[in-house]
Amino acid sequence: MEIKNHKWSEKQLLKERKEVLKQWPTGEQILDLDEAVEYQKSMPEELNAAFLLNRAKKNAKTLIQPRGGVNNVNDHIQLLNILEKQGGADLLPTTIDSYTRNARFEEAQQAIEKDVTNGEGSILNGLPAVNVGVKEIRKIREQTNAPLVGRTCAPYPRLLAEMLLAGGYTSMEGGGITCLIPYTKTDSLEMSIKRWQYVSRLMRYYYDHGGIVLHRESYGPCTGVLIPPCITLAISILECIIDCEQGITNYSLGYGMGGNITQDIVAMKVLEEVCQEYLDMLGYKDIKLTTYFHQYMGAFPKDEEKALALITFGATVGALSRATVIITKTTHEAHGIPTAQNNAQSCRATKNIINMLNGEKIEGTDKMKQEEMMLRKATKSILDSTLEIGNGDAAIGTVRAFKAGIIDVPFSPSNYNKNLLLSHKDLRGAIRIADPGNVPIPKEVMGYETKKIKERTEKQKIEPGYKMLLEDILTFTGRNN
Ligand code: 5AD
Repeated sequence: MEIKNHKWSEKQLLKERKEVLKQWPTGEQILDLDEAVEYQKSMPEELNAAFLLNRAKKNAKTLIQPRGGVNNVNDHIQLLNILEKQGGADLLPTTIDSYTRNARFEEAQQAIEKDVTNGEGSILNGLPAVNVGVKEIRKIREQTNAPLVGRTCAPYPRLLAEMLLAGGYTSMEGGGITCLIPYTKTDSLEMSIKRWQYVSRLMRYYYDHGGIVLHRESYGPCTGVLIPPCITLAISILECIIDCEQGITNYSLGYGMGGNITQDIVAMKVLEEVCQEYLDMLGYKDIKLTTYFHQYMGAFPKDEEKALALITFGATVGALSRATVIITKTTHEAHGIPTAQNNAQSCRATKNIINMLNGEKIEGTDKMKQEEMMLRKATKSILDSTLEIGNGDAAIGTVRAFKAGIIDVPFSPSNYNKNLLLSHKDLRGAIRIADPGNVPIPKEVMGYETKKIKERTEKQKIEPGYKMLLEDILTFTGRNN
């Protein structure tokens, strides 16, 4: 096994860094890491994601963050200004294009050189941050007024992290598991975890040498399709543990809306509580946890009104879950990458819901308590089995747990995922486990899940299988009304 859940020495980081910077010529621009630390030090506190997130949590406020990224830097700055000024985005995104996420910088370069769109869209599906280089990234920083977050769910994040952090970004979304399992077929899970260890250890360097607190966020939704909450929670918590070992102190757990309001609210609560419990148990002290709630990540309606209804439904559940941040979707989701104005519209709608709900909490019903107990048991069982199979090491345990099917993500294309677990929606749209495969779901919880699926199959006269799965996947596309 090449990895261990053990903090890298600074020497190891700097040795690997030399190789990382050689991946593309712009790496030379950031040879001097201490200059990058100085640049971060010159930035006001209000532009630091960790600062903003902690303040929001303290004041029980829910913030909003859209996604967004185009290949041309000036267009990207314009997009971010629209999201901030017209949308009221609290944190500004930079979605990175797929070539860069896979360290295919040569192909990104060819696309940039071919670009003739002139503001009429984007040839890439995000900003090729490595190719544009540090000066341009700092230009983005200097022409915007909110913390910049790299939406960097990348299996190959190292040079990308170097460039964004040197450019003034203070947060990166991703993780060794969640950036691999939904996206690639043959790439090794172990190496992906190792590359993300590099990112977190690099962030720690900024703290050790300049007192800069940088923030990591786990990409909760994974494949975004029918993932039982216990799987999402276990993965997000494992990514958190692995990052904290490298010295991260400010961490956001992620969760993607499943569609049943009780299940989603409970999941957000259990996610944070169980994570805190494991961090305490494993000795990671003073970690500041916050949460990200993703509006629905599955198939969207084509119809704009129906899409907006789904967005506002997500906003409602996110706000009632007391998420620190809601990641917004757009009414263009079924059609492609949204325009800036369309993106800002979803931000406004989401913010309006948050304001109308005014901090309301929903908790304590018997139904919720039962759901909570079941979810806690299932999540802890997966975490305990993972730690056990890794002899107490979360990174080794994660690799072995995927191999054994202890963690199993539905609809993953990865060879490193067992693909035995089957899930369905119940009568009320909650995600239930029909067949756990090798995932150690306690007997009592399986009894509960089976009962919930049976309620639906009996009422709707439908059998678990392909047709039911199709219904589940298309459930919010609004095709039946
Ligand atoms: N701009 C805006 N949104 C994007 N998404 C992906 N790339 C971009 C981009 N460049 C959003 C889409 C997608 C989700 C994963 O992220 O909503 O479904």
